[in-house]
Amino acid sequence: MKDTILSGIRPTGKLHIGNYLGSLSNFLKLQKDNDCYFFIADLHSLNEPFLAQEKYHQIIDLTKDYLAAGLDPKKCVIFAQSHLSQHSELAIILQNVVPVSFLFRMTQYKDKSTDRENDKVNAGLLFYPILMAADILMYKSTKVPVGQDQTQHVELARDVAGFFNNKYGQTFPEPKPLFTETPKVMSLLAPDKKMSKSLGDAHCIYIDDEPEVIRQKLAKAVTDTGDGQSLGAKNLLDLIRIFSKPEIFEKMSADQAAGQLKYSELKNQLAADIANYFADFRKRKKQISDQQAKKILAAGAKKAKIVAQKTLNEVKKRIGIS
Ligand code: TRP
Repeated sequence: MKDTILSGIRPTGKLHIGNYLGSLSNFLKLQKDNDCYFFIADLHSLNEPFLAQEKYHQIIDLTKDYLAAGLDPKKCVIFAQSHLSQHSELAIILQNVVPVSFLFRMTQYKDKSTDRENDKVNAGLLFYPILMAADILMYKSTKVPVGQDQTQHVELARDVAGFFNNKYGQTFPEPKPLFTETPKVMSLLAPDKKMSKSLGDAHCIYIDDEPEVIRQKLAKAVTDTGDGQSLGAKNLLDLIRIFSKPEIFEKMSADQAAGQLKYSELKNQLAADIANYFADFRKRKKQISDQQAKKILAAGAKKAKIVAQKTLNEVKKRIGIS
């Protein structure tokens, strides 16, 4: 039986190569043989600081990323979460089957709420996993491709399905996280930390960076951290393994082991190979107009809405409000 697969990315700005390898590149493989929903998690992105005048652009830009990377609206449903009121409605209903203690113990909530000043820890951050459960259960998804940091949320969605089914009768299949190979990509300048936009642009290679920008960023990448660990060099070699030909990776690994690897060569090679890897992507992205992206989202929302409304009607019947 085909799986129903759903996943989303929050529109918060450019995607870096770590984001790409961890999510979008997996979506591409999955769209071939499954019923897939890939959406823009715009409502989920509102719990962190953002500029209202940038948000819509971020939604359109991420849609272009999806399309330029190769997500095909004929093979999967692409939409923005906020374009359907059903996600919010289902979340409001589902919040009543989740003990609040479950939310307080989510690792992401704990981490983010300790990082933020108290007045910035909004209720959206706490309720985040319920909205995510609504996203997942809405389409009766069976598999959810996510990175490690989101597996606890998928498990919560599973609990929510179980609680709901127990109380109101079998309605939702229990979704499972789908672990895909996600290499850990580290920051260029602080290779002991994961690559992240929040560290700053110089720490990241964005998938739409032009070749010259990639070259400049890599030229400044830290190789030896001075503690004998060469974490930076290890990270760059890991990237060579992903983006370069196998024989290049083998040669450079052997040189590294023999203490003969020239870091300038490593960086030049990697810059050329990453630029090349995303060359088609960059070209396609430039060709997609805002108007086209909006059209795709509108068509996707129309398709998603049919399924979403059906689930919502069923849920409302089950709980006795319709
Ligand atoms: N929480 C996910 C993230 O931050 C995004 C997301 C929202 C999501 N809803 C989802 C992922 C449903 C998978 C399924 O990366």
